[in-house]
Amino acid sequence: MSNPGNNIEASRLLADLYRLREFGAYKTGVHRPTFSAEDIESRRWLAQRMREAGLDAHIDGIGNVLGRSPGSGRKLLLGSHLETQNHAGWLDGAMGVIYGLEVARTLGGGIDVAAWADEEGHYGSFLGSRSFIGELSDADVDASRNRYDAAPLRGALARCGLAGIPRDRCDPGRYVGYLEAHIEQADDLESRKLKLGVVTSIVGIRQFRIRVEGLQNHAGTTRMAIRRDAGLAAVKLAVAIDARFSKVCAERSVWTIGRMSLEPGALSVIPGGAEIGFQFRDADDLVLARFEATLEALVAETSAGPCTVALHNLSRSRPSVMDARFQEVIERAAEAHAPRLHQRMPSGAGHDAQILARVMPAGMLFVPSIGGVSHHWSEDTADEDIVLGCQVFTTAAADLLAA
Ligand code: HGY
Ligand code: MN
Ligand code: MN
Repeated sequence: MSNPGNNIEASRLLADLYRLREFGAYKTGVHRPTFSAEDIESRRWLAQRMREAGLDAHIDGIGNVLGRSPGSGRKLLLGSHLETQNHAGWLDGAMGVIYGLEVARTLGGGIDVAAWADEEGHYGSFLGSRSFIGELSDADVDASRNRYDAAPLRGALARCGLAGIPRDRCDPGRYVGYLEAHIEQADDLESRKLKLGVVTSIVGIRQFRIRVEGLQNHAGTTRMAIRRDAGLAAVKLAVAIDARFSKVCAERSVWTIGRMSLEPGALSVIPGGAEIGFQFRDADDLVLARFEATLEALVAETSAGPCTVALHNLSRSRPSVMDARFQEVIERAAEAHAPRLHQRMPSGAGHDAQILARVMPAGMLFVPSIGGVSHHWSEDTADEDIVLGCQVFTTAAADLLAA
């Protein structure tokens, strides 16, 4: 039996990926933050490529690019995201979107393709896919600010020419389900010399801004005993979080301080203020709840010292289990194209699939990341692994459509 994946056009797939890489090119990676000029330009390019593939394509009011297949019958929805972390990789998100386009061209019908806005969280948490499933209100959009410069989302949408455009809403009855392909962003496949990952679950992520207030003063004349050093309090809290979280974590839990700032940031001035950007992840909501309670307790304990500490939640995403039947179909396709070179595995990264899974069956396929590197401009995957992944993805999509 010939596998539909054998019919993809590898040169066309790679050419589109290499063209997409040019929007915001940075060293060997890409800098394409959500709603930057390069990002909206890439969305317009994708919409045009979708039309050339016979899809009815447009960009909706939150920046989702949706290409809908004409004709009757239920469809399979494929997608991922176009924007990137700052100065990051060329395949995170982009690969899954172009896979979807290639599957639509290869199968010639039954496939909708989406590029969800802001999966990388420059303005919020899964804004595009949450909007699509009806979990993002207009008030949420009004309140959203850029995580780096606090610029309003509404202004960014207007700058991209999206003001006043309706936001698409999913009709779950239209779909048999959602499939997303993504780079693994870790080294498990590579270290085991495997080529494909069938995703079993996706972690939940909780993100916080921790604000420490002390008293700015002279670094030379203020005695140590009377200082209210917000910088020192923030560093002590960071160390305490790591020590305490290590005692309540699960096997694959992770926690990260991705940002720490001191104010005013001068060597001869005791910091009067400090800010920590913190997140933690796990596949089990109970573990996430335990972490959050531990964090709250640590914040209260630190506030008992010379500085006050305030905890602000930025986002909470729920863990998700991928559809069992979708996992079987993906595994069968992997075995057909790459016998015994695949495994089932959890995702330590968040993905739009965990949002779509709230309204329809969802599944994910991973391909290897060289050196396990991601969220860095040197992120890469061998061309032959990209092509093999798309073949498997196409065969799985055809199976799900035919079922
Ligand atoms: O951080 C994540 O898990 C995703 O890559 N945005
Ligand atoms: Mn991603
Ligand atoms: Mn990412």
